[in-house]
Amino acid sequence: MNGRIAAVVGWPVAQSLSPVIHCHWFREYRIDGEYVALPILPENFSRCMAALPLMGFAGVNVTVPHKQAAAALAQTLDEDARRTGAVNLLVFGERGIAGANTDVAGFLASLRESLQVNQLTNRPAIVLGAGGAARAVVLALQRAGFDEICIVNRTRERAQAIVDQLALPVRCRVIDWGDWTNAFAGGGLLVNTTSLGMKGKAALELPLDHLPSDAAVADIVYNPVQTDLLRRAAAKGHATMDGLGMLMHQAVPAFAAWFGVTPKVTAELRTELLRALARA
Ligand code: ATR
Repeated sequence: MNGRIAAVVGWPVAQSLSPVIHCHWFREYRIDGEYVALPILPENFSRCMAALPLMGFAGVNVTVPHKQAAAALAQTLDEDARRTGAVNLLVFGERGIAGANTDVAGFLASLRESLQVNQLTNRPAIVLGAGGAARAVVLALQRAGFDEICIVNRTRERAQAIVDQLALPVRCRVIDWGDWTNAFAGGGLLVNTTSLGMKGKAALELPLDHLPSDAAVADIVYNPVQTDLLRRAAAKGHATMDGLGMLMHQAVPAFAAWFGVTPKVTAELRTELLRALARA
């Protein structure tokens, strides 16, 4: 029987806010549990995943660079993990290790909470970036009801690979990086999934002039919460959504699977994360 302990595993992992989220919920639901951040080298990943269940862990959240290794190691995968090829949640059970991807549902929940999605879906969604996060976002956008999705990426082949591999029943277009005018014309929602704008990284130099004024702008970067992109979008009057919503919502199914309580995403949790970011 696994205990009330879970972890986030990554390399590096010290910057993770997952412990803040899960420890908040332990207090909120009066659960005597523990959640720790474990830095694990890629070459040690599978041996550590074999050891943690023996040590009483209920499971782990998986972050960079282990998301594909976790998909390969899990005995079962949920649909979103299969489709994205990335696992961010492992649940250690009696019958082995189950892998899931909760980023898709996390982004979708944040979208529905933050924006008037139904008023945006009749126009194309534009996704900047084609990494692991973009796959989850594209899948979530299709599920949200967008029937046209444009992927704009510096490396065109990676955007094409997402279109080919996800094979979604909606119109997907690949647009060259920098071809903003073409991408933005008539767009309903712009989502940044690149690492640009993150603390310590270059800013996203992106003219918003051609984006219709009633389009919304989302960023999955959450450090800083108010990215330069979101600041400029808000100044132009666009509705915006920051990256904290996805971060909080992707954690809900993990806590539920490990500890049997479906936690709520609240303003208090958001405040606690903002405080943690200010300390970092
Ligand atoms: P993740 O899995 O977290 O999404 P990733 O796979 O490293 O991370 O993807 C990062 C994304 O940011 C990619 O789309 C990357 O573009 P490339 O596919 O061309 O590498 C994008 N990105 C990172 N730095 C960039 C830069 N300086 N200019 C444009 N795009 C950049």
